[in-house]
Amino acid sequence: MALIFGIESTCDETAAAVVQDGWLVRSNVIASQADLHARYRGVVPEIACRAHIENLLPVLREAMAIAHVGWDDIDAIAVAHRPGLIGSLLIGVTAAKTLAWSLGKPLIGVDHVQAHLHSVILRDNDAPSDPPPPTPDPQRPTGPRSTGVPRDLQPTTANPQPATLARETGAPPDPPPFPAVGLVASGGHTALYALNSFDDARIIGSTLDDAVGEAYDKVAAILGQGYPGGPILDRLAAEGDPRAIAFPRSYLQRDSLDFSFSGLKTAVLYHVRGVPSRKSPLPKRDPGRDEPTPPPDAELRNIAAAFQAACIDVILEKLRRAIRRVGARSVLVGGGVSANRGLRNALANLKLPVFLPEPAFCTDNAAMSAGLADAAFARGDFSPLDLDALTDSRLRR
Ligand code: KG4
Ligand code: ZN
Repeated sequence: MALIFGIESTCDETAAAVVQDGWLVRSNVIASQADLHARYRGVVPEIACRAHIENLLPVLREAMAIAHVGWDDIDAIAVAHRPGLIGSLLIGVTAAKTLAWSLGKPLIGVDHVQAHLHSVILRDNDAPSDPPPPTPDPQRPTGPRSTGVPRDLQPTTANPQPATLARETGAPPDPPPFPAVGLVASGGHTALYALNSFDDARIIGSTLDDAVGEAYDKVAAILGQGYPGGPILDRLAAEGDPRAIAFPRSYLQRDSLDFSFSGLKTAVLYHVRGVPSRKSPLPKRDPGRDEPTPPPDAELRNIAAAFQAACIDVILEKLRRAIRRVGARSVLVGGGVSANRGLRNALANLKLPVFLPEPAFCTDNAAMSAGLADAAFARGDFSPLDLDALTDSRLRR
């Protein structure tokens, strides 16, 4: 059995997790910074970096406390060291190196995007009902909820049942049949991958401009809604008419696996504020101060539904093309947008098994990094203590 401690700080979530054998999540703690960035309707890198510094230690301690383990029980320290915002990455990478060095444990740097694809085989689990006595640790908080932990921590215990059952029988979830097509759809990435295994992925398409999650966030801002916009538009879309407005679908060339969402975003902007001309340009707004007025409720729901339908149509068409190209036997979808209910329903139309993360593992988390590191740990494939934080992904065309 391998127990891996994971750290995530690539963007605006400070997270830590303990994962057993690459799939069983013993703890998964996430301090979201969404409130700090909400007034700017997007992540401000300097604010993110400072918040990581404040949140990191309480989050690490909480993850250990919830997993009911001590540092002696941990086999390796995993960290998402690429891609992401450099200031944010540096905080998590420095913490991981410090832990690895001071505890004498192996360090394993993983790719955040690849980890999103691994998230489909994670299973949540309550702390063991009969935990072993923890190894004494002077740094450890005394109770299951340590003092000083940010109030917006989200320790997840969603639907522990499948994992608990699996743990009793010792059976990990069945891995997807490979070759597979992977889609990572998040605030920072929209890309398609050809996978021969979780560890062997090649990029076959990516966005030429905005990521789909970014388009959700920007459209929500245009509509005077909060941040992050994805979950808000997802809820509104469920009550709207997707055919009420014909927003454009950008399929690019016939065989292209790339994406483009900026035209769709502009179409929503023009629909809401009118098409600008030299005589009447769009009024300039200060995102920190001028709040756009939301359209009336029914119109708001229809815009959300029509926008979401356009995103989903494009994603499904690109997935079909990628499946044909790769000769795929399954589809893996990860990233924040994989939580979208409309997308989840539409994916059922693909004639292949589709693997999606449990809701707690769709958005950024550290469990996916700890899970992905398990294979590297088994191979003895460790990172040096001078591991770099890098802004680009390891996965290449
Ligand atoms: O994976 P993630 O947590 O961070 C990145 O790596 O970017 O994804 C965050 C993105 C945000 O843009 C957010 O609006 C979007 O995922 N998102 C959603 C939903 N939940 C989160 N988009 C559409 N529908 C959702 N239910
Ligand atoms: Zn992510």
